[in-house]
Amino acid sequence: MESDTQRLNLKREIGIIGAVSFIAGTMIGSGIFISPQYVLSAIGSPGASFVIWTCCGLIAMLGGLCYAELGTVIPESGAEYIYMLRTAGKVVAFMFVFSFIIVMRPASATGIALSVAEYVVAPFYNGCTPPQLVVKLVAAGAIIVLAIVNCLSVRLATAIQVVSMAIKLLALAVIILGGVVMLFEGRTENFENSFEETNVNVSSIGIAFYQCLWSYDGWNTLNFLTEELKHPEVNLPRAVVIAISLVTGLYLLVNVSYLTVMTPKELMSSSAVAVTWGNKVLGSWGWIMSVAAALSAFGSLNGTFFSGGRVCFVAAREGHMPDILAMAHVHRLTPSPALIFTTVVSLLVLIPGDFQSIVNFFSFTAWFFYAITLSGLLYLKIKKPELPRPYTVPIILPILVLMAAIFLVLAPIIDNPQIEYLYVTLFILSGAIVYIPFIHYKLCPGLLTKLTVFLQLFLEVAPAEKNL
Ligand code: ARG
Repeated sequence: MESDTQRLNLKREIGIIGAVSFIAGTMIGSGIFISPQYVLSAIGSPGASFVIWTCCGLIAMLGGLCYAELGTVIPESGAEYIYMLRTAGKVVAFMFVFSFIIVMRPASATGIALSVAEYVVAPFYNGCTPPQLVVKLVAAGAIIVLAIVNCLSVRLATAIQVVSMAIKLLALAVIILGGVVMLFEGRTENFENSFEETNVNVSSIGIAFYQCLWSYDGWNTLNFLTEELKHPEVNLPRAVVIAISLVTGLYLLVNVSYLTVMTPKELMSSSAVAVTWGNKVLGSWGWIMSVAAALSAFGSLNGTFFSGGRVCFVAAREGHMPDILAMAHVHRLTPSPALIFTTVVSLLVLIPGDFQSIVNFFSFTAWFFYAITLSGLLYLKIKKPELPRPYTVPIILPILVLMAAIFLVLAPIIDNPQIEYLYVTLFILSGAIVYIPFIHYKLCPGLLTKLTVFLQLFLEVAPAEKNL
């Protein structure tokens, strides 16, 4: 095959509805059905927990707007990776992609897959804890099914995103309506003295933010696929504003409903809030909430896959990953090698992984890199004011979000240092050590070339080009 004449492009197929669905669909996933009790137990009081949910929505919105500027100034796919490459340079970008591909993306996929599995098996083990093996097998099944779908077609993946989005909106609407009805019946006793027993120490606040921000994570999803978006300069900021305000509003109302129906104590001791809520309000129809929560997380997993594969793909294109990962299928135009790689690593993480610790380490690593990316935006605003900016935010926004990010990374370490955070930091830094022999000096290229040719024929893929 003549590789010069046969360069492939990923197509610009995603319009505003797809764009909003990608953001909202990735954000709404496992979190809103699991985190509320962790936020509440960390922070202690319902009133303070509402404050946290509101602040996190605000942080996500401001972060999203800053990223919208980045996405239009640097119109390439790949989000943090490409922004760091263009601002902080190759070594930092490589450190990111290294941590992202080996830890963050598979960890978030695995976390979500585990909660899909928890909700899928919950109705079969009424009230008791299901065996870990069953949960992990179901989680692995979900990962594999979505990997296959994402390799087969962009359209199908987008369709899943849209359908699952409808289901999760419906589920949240049911929860909100149920809550409103009860509120009107006068069930307001859980909101009296709502700030009593608030824990005001740095580490409780930090952990509450980590758990809550997990539910909001995914606000940057669209930046991973800017090149596949129609008119990104208009659709990117618009989709950010629509999706994030929608999600924030829904999350706040859902929390009101949870607390209307359950006392703070009941909420804190429930392992799957949506199921407890369902059993209390819908009685024997409670299992419906379990199905809806599972499907919601399934859609979120799909979004994670869709955007996660794109990062390998962009990094490989820049020479930071083996070439094979930058190729797309010759007919289907999906970046299947990158997707397969992410799947394999996710399955490996699944073996030892547990949901709680995954969320904390994920948030720590994610906010570490969000901070570097936002500094990059500040750098561009100050040093390169002449760059064309189809969309721009006031400089105070990146400063505020950067301060929040620094607090989030430092709070859990300073107040309650745990050795694991040191390991995570060392892992991130070790990316720089890998960089020198393998990327800078390109050690062992011969072996890679042979492997690339073999895989290229086997997977029917060819190099893809930028789509600017
Ligand atoms: N917010 C999602 C949830 O509640 C998790 C998102 C994980 N991160 C991501 N970039 N996909 O399940």
